[in-house]
Amino acid sequence: MLQGIYYKSMTNIYPYTSKSLSEAAQIIKDGGLVAFPTETVYGLGANVFNSKAVANIFAVKGRPTFNPLISHIADFAMLDELAITDERMLALAHHFWPGPLTFVVKRKNFDPALDLVCAGLQTMTVRMPNHPIALELIRHSGVPIAAPSANRSQSISPTTARHVYDSLGTKVDMILDGGSCMVGVESTILDLTTNQAVILRAGGLAKEELESFLGEKILVSHGNPDQPSSPGQLLKHYAPKIPMRINVLAQDRRDDEFYIGFGNQDGNLNLSKSGNLVEAAANLFAFMHLAEEQSQYPAIAMAPIPDIGLGLAINDRIRRASYRK
Ligand code: TXA
Ligand code: MG
Repeated sequence: MLQGIYYKSMTNIYPYTSKSLSEAAQIIKDGGLVAFPTETVYGLGANVFNSKAVANIFAVKGRPTFNPLISHIADFAMLDELAITDERMLALAHHFWPGPLTFVVKRKNFDPALDLVCAGLQTMTVRMPNHPIALELIRHSGVPIAAPSANRSQSISPTTARHVYDSLGTKVDMILDGGSCMVGVESTILDLTTNQAVILRAGGLAKEELESFLGEKILVSHGNPDQPSSPGQLLKHYAPKIPMRINVLAQDRRDDEFYIGFGNQDGNLNLSKSGNLVEAAANLFAFMHLAEEQSQYPAIAMAPIPDIGLGLAINDRIRRASYRK
């Protein structure tokens, strides 16, 4: 089906061109799977209205089907087709979209094909990603695209096309290469279905920005690992292949540990020498991938990260990554 693009013989990674984009859209229309870049992490996409394609997402990722998927949209007409909205949600969406913010909203569309995307819930999650390739892919496909992060379940999310290939290989029909993801951690998930706004997953949009726009405090749910309202809250969700300790000062690092530093706590790598949390978030998963792939050290240690701004999302991810049952 796909022809004439560079390193086809080696992998299913295709550099973004107008040709590869239209081929990717055709794959989505035909019920296939396309991994594509967003500003947060790479997504593994399928037509939300094609249950067979959506079922394939779960199979390829090894993801339990009780864990619902985010529907990615390119315009507000698509939102209207799927969800019941209200003024507060629309105000936020118009301000922060396209961007790393996902809303939990009430479903309007009860097309049975969507049940798998929504894991049978009466609510669903929607997001308009801030990435030209993602938006173009959705527009050309003509349908919302269901997309979890494009990695095997319980491993670190991919921020490059190569990460996707290393995790899922050729089980994906096509990996569209759009370079490294700028934000680097998954979107913030905001639940507006109750009176009090609640962040179900800290992510690429800082809590402080949402609070200042809404003029109210937002709760952060750290979740009940046995009964997650957002199954991504499962404690062991972002596990690297080797053990990891967090909140470790450089002076307390052990000899057998690969040390990921931050600010003046320097190590084998440093998330941000200047202590910039946006830069640190963008580097986080790529550094964790590097740390688990290197062979000299059997373990990882990470410097303390302040719990403000994107630090909330970083601390959430590394806490899960360090969790050992
Ligand atoms: O940045 C992102 O959000 C990336 C990119 C590809 O857009 N996507 C992503 O998807 O991180 P995924 O599937 O890895 O995480 C989606 C999270 C899961 O924790 C899931 O449990 C939660 O969203 N979720 C989905 N639908 C939900 C719902 N109706 N209520 C509560 N949580 C929901
Ligand atoms: Mg994920």
